[in-house]
Amino acid sequence: MALPQDFLQELKLRCNIEDVISQYVQLKRAGSNLVGCCPFHSEKTPSFTVFRNNENFYCFGCGAGGDVITFVMKMENVDYMTAIEHLAARAGLTIPEDPKNAVMRVNKDRYFEMNKLAARFFYDSLIDPKNDDALKYITSRGITLQTIKRFGIGYADTSWDSLTGYLMSKGYEKEEIKNNFLAGISSKTGRAFDYFRNRIMFPIFDLSGRVIAFGGRIIGDEKPKYLNSSDTYVFKKSRNLYALNHAKNNTDSSLILCEGYMDVVALQQAGFINAVATLGTALTSEQTRIISRYASTVYLCYDSDEAGQRATKRAIDMLSDVGVKVQVVKIEGAKDPDEYIKKYGKTSFEKLLKGSNGHIEYALGNISAKYNVNVAEQKLQYLDECCTMLSGVFSEIEREIFIQKITEKTGISADIIRHEIKKRQKRNFEKNRRDAIKEDINKSIGYGDRVNADSAKNLATVKKEENLLGLLLLRPEYLDLASIKEIVSEDIFRCEFSKKVWREIVKNKEAENEGKSTFGEEFTPEEMGRIIQMRLNREKLSNNSEDVALELANTLKQEAKSQTDTDGSDDSFLKLIEELKKSKK
Ligand code: UTP
Ligand code: MN
Repeated sequence: MALPQDFLQELKLRCNIEDVISQYVQLKRAGSNLVGCCPFHSEKTPSFTVFRNNENFYCFGCGAGGDVITFVMKMENVDYMTAIEHLAARAGLTIPEDPKNAVMRVNKDRYFEMNKLAARFFYDSLIDPKNDDALKYITSRGITLQTIKRFGIGYADTSWDSLTGYLMSKGYEKEEIKNNFLAGISSKTGRAFDYFRNRIMFPIFDLSGRVIAFGGRIIGDEKPKYLNSSDTYVFKKSRNLYALNHAKNNTDSSLILCEGYMDVVALQQAGFINAVATLGTALTSEQTRIISRYASTVYLCYDSDEAGQRATKRAIDMLSDVGVKVQVVKIEGAKDPDEYIKKYGKTSFEKLLKGSNGHIEYALGNISAKYNVNVAEQKLQYLDECCTMLSGVFSEIEREIFIQKITEKTGISADIIRHEIKKRQKRNFEKNRRDAIKEDINKSIGYGDRVNADSAKNLATVKKEENLLGLLLLRPEYLDLASIKEIVSEDIFRCEFSKKVWREIVKNKEAENEGKSTFGEEFTPEEMGRIIQMRLNREKLSNNSEDVALELANTLKQEAKSQTDTDGSDDSFLKLIEELKKSKK
């Protein structure tokens, strides 16, 4: 969707990239640029750079880059238009009405509205006396009417089309209902049928209180136990947490993270209003970033089974990565928080929270549980694992605390343990260094290139393509030259990514001629990062002339024609990649 160029210019002028990014990242001056620690990956030395002269950012560590709009898209996990809306609101600008934009936005509103109607429909069904069994089921699980209201819990009845029929009577097309994950369409009859049947329905709200999706628990033993909305126009599973709309109001900057809807509902009903859950998937990095905005401490409260414990380990690492402190709550005598609350009451749960372990203590506890330190051999294994674990702990003070504990438990002197930890740290350091070198090699031969998957096959070509594209990005006016027009077309590029960038350059040039701009809309921040790098690389060179562009284009054209790479280096690179792949196994 193209927006008027002068609007975008005004927007970028008012939302200065430095100001916007400074809200999230502490920036320091470095020459004419600004640098800081990248908010998109964890790092201790700043490689995130803001280029003030061309209003771009680029992270030399993870490759993310773009303009202020791309930054907001990635930081706030939103799409292009939402990022524009966000910035426009910040700048006090009104987005110019484009008929196309209007259609886009009306559509989203229609989906929100449909969800709201559906949620109300489910709620009404739950309290309808004819569905008495459903209400009995949910109340038998200890949920009060007040809680049902607070969470908007409802019931999808056993009929195949009650919701679909209702929504169609409200003017929705069956395709829209299908798009919103509320119905399927039978391939035989072409008729729509309700997805959720005989299920207790949990609406999922976004932070503005709009219904964006549903989770439904079957009444009875059918499979699957829970059915969750897939991603839709208004819902991204990986970017939302159940009940965060309530939990964000917590005052002590903590969240309780559990596995299930029922856990959250039961905990919140018991007064723990900071309980949230992921939505039928493992924790995602997007969710951890959202969590870090609302909490400095997370009480991990996963199920007590093995899967829950595995998920705990993973969540500890992910949350630590975004700087959130983790306390691990051990649910004993029950399988999950819901059951625990019901069995032992809320005071006991309060105690569980208070007695929860920090993540290091949790890890040590797990190691401890495996070994009997009175047996010499097991004591050795115990020490070995403890030292390995502590070698990954950054803070010396924290390490010291646990070294003392291990000393007490094993009778081995603190000095020896410290020495062992140091040895491992050195080993880790060496390994990280080797990994980094390996990664550099991998990158330079294109293996593992997520942005341009073709680059492994066509390394020599991709360099030339990027050179030419960088030059055209730097000097878009060359596109108007007859000599360039004659040679450069999509066909001379062999990498799909290069083709896409080329199409975007052309499209953007046309849009610019009409006073509009589209760049950035089609690309992920990683892709934008690569595009900026292409231009930066070119900018560093002094020979950015029309002749160079022509020469590059001519070479590419000939190569594309003969379909074989002229410098013949690709074969050897392919071999190298194969070897690297083998050595990885
Ligand atoms: P559980 O199986 O632990 O269910 O799944 P639960 O939350 O304890 O539910 P009750 O108490 O039996 O009613 C935990 C979470 O995993 C997801 C759901 O989000 C659920 O809340 N899940 C589970 C699914 O998405 N699909 C399933 O079939 C099962
Ligand atoms: Mn449960």
